[in-house]
Amino acid sequence: EAKEELRRGLEGVLAAETRIGYVNGSDGKLFYRGYEINSLVEQSNYEEVSYLLLYGHLPKRGEYEEYVKRLREEMPLPDEVLSLIKNIGGRTHPMSALRTVISYLSVLDSMESDSSTKNQERIGISLIARMPSIVGAIHRVYSGKEIIKPDPELGYASNFFYMSTGARPDPVESKIMDTALIIHADHGMNASTFSALVTISTMADMYSAITSAIGTLKGPLHGGANERALKMIQSVGRPENAEKVLKVMTDKGERVMGFGHRVYKVYDPRAKILKRYAEYFAERKGNETFKTAQIIEELMINKYGERGIFPNVDFYSGMIYDAMGFRTEIFTPIFATGRISGWVARALEYSTENRLFRPKALYVGEKGPRKYIPIQDRD
Ligand code: CMC
Repeated sequence: EAKEELRRGLEGVLAAETRIGYVNGSDGKLFYRGYEINSLVEQSNYEEVSYLLLYGHLPKRGEYEEYVKRLREEMPLPDEVLSLIKNIGGRTHPMSALRTVISYLSVLDSMESDSSTKNQERIGISLIARMPSIVGAIHRVYSGKEIIKPDPELGYASNFFYMSTGARPDPVESKIMDTALIIHADHGMNASTFSALVTISTMADMYSAITSAIGTLKGPLHGGANERALKMIQSVGRPENAEKVLKVMTDKGERVMGFGHRVYKVYDPRAKILKRYAEYFAERKGNETFKTAQIIEELMINKYGERGIFPNVDFYSGMIYDAMGFRTEIFTPIFATGRISGWVARALEYSTENRLFRPKALYVGEKGPRKYIPIQDRD
């Protein structure tokens, strides 16, 4: 067999064509359908960005209204789902609860396995619509509080905030929530998106694809980093402890959560946006955690900046969610709530020019053939 190159983690391997989003890792820029993330954050909202990712253009007024109406109609959860969320309660991590609930939704859908694009798109949109209600309800139950029904008067991000925290957001909180969801909506061929594509490539249904994606997002090297980043900053505590604690961690070769990225070798543009909001809350609610984070950032950049390690989206996001009243364990489900549009858009796009994912592994085991020894003769 000809010698083939092994690319661990498929690093740099082109696995599909897409028109949905582009990450420019060397200049630190992120585009959705050609629109730069900063312009979307400044001028758009999550509903519109979600439409843009799915359909490739900014919606005209009529299209926008129809899409928003559809999301609003799908938002309330069936009683069976609310019961399941209550049943799960606080027994497991909210990401596991989320994975279970998404999977369960297929039980209530008799059309689940109709693999037509139209049907899978219908499922995708209903999942986009339900995500804030599901994550909100999980957050409430996990915190020992009553589940809150969506308020049809509120937009997507504000409703998510309301159903999670029990309070209607003020205009700044609403903008920050929208921003957090927008900047998480899509990000190239990341692990969870790839996972969704692998599943959809078998012609399995959208519920299965999103369930796979959520399972993949859970890990600390991907979505799970936001929760750990805040815990790390809090464990450092006062700004003057940062240098010592960081030295211990890096001497041991530990990964510092919230830093580094497979694609960005410069400052993550999403982290830049979130840092401004972290600073806003720091000024209002107390500065210490933010100050500690800034020192950690400085020390990390001094030490590793040359090697292309900078804060990523997860370094400041947790601090913002914390300031808005979200529990640490819900940070990764917030990431999932933003990313759902990217997962659905990319899964639908892939399925229109489907090719089953089936890479190879380099076999490095025993060449064989080995002689089989009956169990009584093995010693
Ligand atoms: N802290 C300390 N050293 C690091 C870090 C870090 N956060 N990230 C990378 N390095 C070092 C790493 O030890 C390695 O050093 P050496 O060459 O001496 O072995 C070098 O940088 C290259 O690292 P790599 O593991 O080959 O790079 P990668 O492309 O696999 O890393 C990453 C990407 C995100 C897995 C990694 O940077 C990491 O583990 N970061 C911490 C977890 C994290 O914040 N994840 C969120 C990523 S952004 C949101 C998302 O996509 O979900």
